[in-house]
Amino acid sequence: RTIASLGPLRSKTVIVRCDLNVPLADDAHGGKVITDDGRIRASLTTIRELRESGARIVLVSHLGRPKGAPDPQFSLAPVAARMQELLGTPVAFVGETVGDQASASIEALQDGEIVLLENLRFNPGETSKDEQERSAFAAQLAKHADVFISDGFGVVHRKQASVYELARLLPSAAGRLVAAELEVLRRLTEDAQKPYAVVLGGSKVSDKLGVIAHLLERVDSLLIGGGMVFTFLAAKGHKVASSLLEEDQLETVRGYLSEAERRGVRIVLPTDIVVADSFAADAEHEVIPADAIETSSFGASGIGLDIGPESARSFATEITDAKTVFWNGPMGVFEMEAFSHGTRAIAKALTETAGFTVVGGGDSAAAVRTLGFADNEFGHISTGGGASLEFLEGKTLPGLEVLS
Ligand code: 3PG
Repeated sequence: RTIASLGPLRSKTVIVRCDLNVPLADDAHGGKVITDDGRIRASLTTIRELRESGARIVLVSHLGRPKGAPDPQFSLAPVAARMQELLGTPVAFVGETVGDQASASIEALQDGEIVLLENLRFNPGETSKDEQERSAFAAQLAKHADVFISDGFGVVHRKQASVYELARLLPSAAGRLVAAELEVLRRLTEDAQKPYAVVLGGSKVSDKLGVIAHLLERVDSLLIGGGMVFTFLAAKGHKVASSLLEEDQLETVRGYLSEAERRGVRIVLPTDIVVADSFAADAEHEVIPADAIETSSFGASGIGLDIGPESARSFATEITDAKTVFWNGPMGVFEMEAFSHGTRAIAKALTETAGFTVVGGGDSAAAVRTLGFADNEFGHISTGGGASLEFLEGKTLPGLEVLS
């Protein structure tokens, strides 16, 4: 259901579930600074539209993973300030999600005004495993609102009070961001032009199991980098020294390798690896063939922290030859300059291909922006990490199911 299905919104109180879970760093004055405001920018289309239609706008979101109680380091206050700058209109911030102060601020809203409530996850009901607790919290959120708009795409895979139960209590619809994300991701699942290449990185194979199994049925090539690559190299019989290894996934990965061969899908692994003597920005490091990681000067204590330059070049060629590319997960420890080259090379290749490119995931999105790329250099940068992977996997996402 789209926003239009909710009818005229003038003077209606609209509660909007956003995903304003942005990365924060400490500033010099003991406060917090937003290091990537992409998710705030992505939420503005719906908010501007609601303002123009004269709605009274109540924004809710989580930030980080606080443990069901107030925790100042996860406050949404810096997000309200940034959103106000971007919108050029006041965004009032209330330091609680439910309670007298929140109620008073909502009741005082005039047409077109905006309030952002404090982090939903400061309340145990938001993420509770108990459906009744979640419903009770959702009822408190719904109390002052007329309609609900679900626009936090990054969180639609979570069965949480503000994502699922709240949508059942009020007339509800998907916001513009959720609609736009779905349009792009459907293009990948239903209408991907071939050759279709998927680049997967990040630390753990176990986070990507479902999506790999699903992608093997659809893609032409699967390029693997990041920490998860060492489980692939080990599954092929190579020694990986002290690199990240998920021993319990070796059998699964061997299964993927033979399934890929049977289906004619190319699993492309790096041929060289940047091996370091420790996990540190100033670690000693060498480029070593991927099948001989133990031969580095650091012997059995060497740790692979990035794909090597030869692999970066061959991955880039695969990417520029493809008509559709989906990328999730950095190729190495991109936060450390010495181990950022693989990730940078992949990002650059995506910006150079004529094909349709999608960057999926909060981390990958933050990585490309941190490395100096602009959003408009890619076909689409998804705001969803887990959500976009679960969508590609073909799973039913609770936050979408409840809207249909
Ligand atoms: C994300 O960063 O992927 C979303 O904001 C969801 O956050 P979560 O994994 O803590 O539920």
